[in-house]
Amino acid sequence: MDYDIKDINLAPEGKQRIEWADREMPVLRLIRERFEKEKPLEGIRIAACAHITTETANLARTLQAGGAEALLIASNPLSTQDDVAASLVADWGIPVMAIKGESTETYMRHVRAALDSNPNIIIDDGSDVVATMLKEKKELAGQIIGTTEETTTGIVRLKAMENAGVLTFPSIAVNDAQTKHFFDNRYGTGQSTLDGVIRATNILLAGKTLVVVGYGWCGKGVAMRARGMGANVVVTEIDPIKAIEGVMDGFRVLPIVEAAKIGDFFVTVTGNRHVIDRQHFESMKDGAIVCNSGHFDLELNLDALRDMSQEPVKRRPFVEEYRSKDDSKSVIVLGEGRLINLAAAEGHPASVMDMSFANQALSAEFLVKNKETLGAGVHVLPSEVDQEIASLKLRAMGVRIDELTPEMLEYLSSWETGT
Ligand SMILES: NC(=O)c1ccc[n+]([C@@H]2O[C@H](COP(=O)([O-])OP(=O)(O)OC[C@H]3O[C@@H](n4cnc5c(N)ncnc54)[C@H](O)[C@@H]3O)[C@@H](O)[C@H]2O)c1
Repeated sequence: MDYDIKDINLAPEGKQRIEWADREMPVLRLIRERFEKEKPLEGIRIAACAHITTETANLARTLQAGGAEALLIASNPLSTQDDVAASLVADWGIPVMAIKGESTETYMRHVRAALDSNPNIIIDDGSDVVATMLKEKKELAGQIIGTTEETTTGIVRLKAMENAGVLTFPSIAVNDAQTKHFFDNRYGTGQSTLDGVIRATNILLAGKTLVVVGYGWCGKGVAMRARGMGANVVVTEIDPIKAIEGVMDGFRVLPIVEAAKIGDFFVTVTGNRHVIDRQHFESMKDGAIVCNSGHFDLELNLDALRDMSQEPVKRRPFVEEYRSKDDSKSVIVLGEGRLINLAAAEGHPASVMDMSFANQALSAEFLVKNKETLGAGVHVLPSEVDQEIASLKLRAMGVRIDELTPEMLEYLSSWETGT
């Protein structure tokens, strides 16, 4: 088996942590148990590009239980948990190519190795594997049953491929399932982003001004949780509707040029480029702490900051101080501008990834079952799948809800009754 990981001897610790996460993933476990019996993925080669975390390990086990030959690579150079990679190789015989802190060259070598495995299904997170296939190995597209995409940014890229007429196979937008982005992006990113900021800095959030750049699903989660910890939260947006939501949720909404002057912490979650740029770094207070939890590391214009600063000094793991050339002030950057929740913490807690990865496992099964009929383009899973995942999750949480009575059902499907 070909693999490229940091140290196979880390496997025992990784196994323990994978099993710990599994306790919080009851929906995925039920799917795994069914997959073991039904083998819906028998003989399917899957290349999965994901953050190599304990939760992803449980997804990989599920795909393997379904009969797939799965290979894993990292979807970000800083998000790999090396003990998890070791355990997947040693304990489950699943090839992994991922090392925390790998260079961009190594990252891309792993992406190409994933394509060399001639996958039938690509599970992507950010669309780097699919984009590389279309740019460098177009001939593989013919054997692809379909791909699945985990995150908002990846879906933006897939839709661009669709518009350009190059997406010649079906892609399931896993992020667009309600049981994914309502929970993973909001509650997952909300908690784990602050976890990353706190683990990296150990600074009290209470009483600090924290600027959330982008009030989408992730931004709402970060803002809500930061307020819960006592921070004064400021939101910046470019979308007037999201901005009104921010205002009515009780946050102060400002343009970034003004927010830049008052923030103690900045968290970007936009999926957009250079949302904190040179002029914003220039107007920040001494000691302002800046990080990103959006998918790619281009949300902060770190080239501009490097250009304005002396050589950065590492203050703690994942904490770098950029001192201005005139020595008047510093800006602190966390996690090299990469997803802070995965760089400095452990990513989302297992309980939300349970639903996200239930969607991934069921998407792989859906692609295989519907391979003759699904056309090229971006698809979402049928809403019954969302309902089923939500019902299973509620049952696992011990929460019961009401059912429609025949009277209610009749009312909801008729138009005659009014005032
Ligand atoms: N850290 C994680 O674990 C994690 C989890 C899920 C998603 N993501 C990533 O986070 C990013 C955001 O995801 P989302 O689901 O919240 O997307 P979203 O589309 O719901 O929200 C993004 C928001 O950013 C706003 N925006 C865009 N440019 C802006 C700018 N210059 N200034 C201010 N606001 C701006 C948009 O108007 C939008 O409201 C994506 O890159 C996504 O892939 C990260």
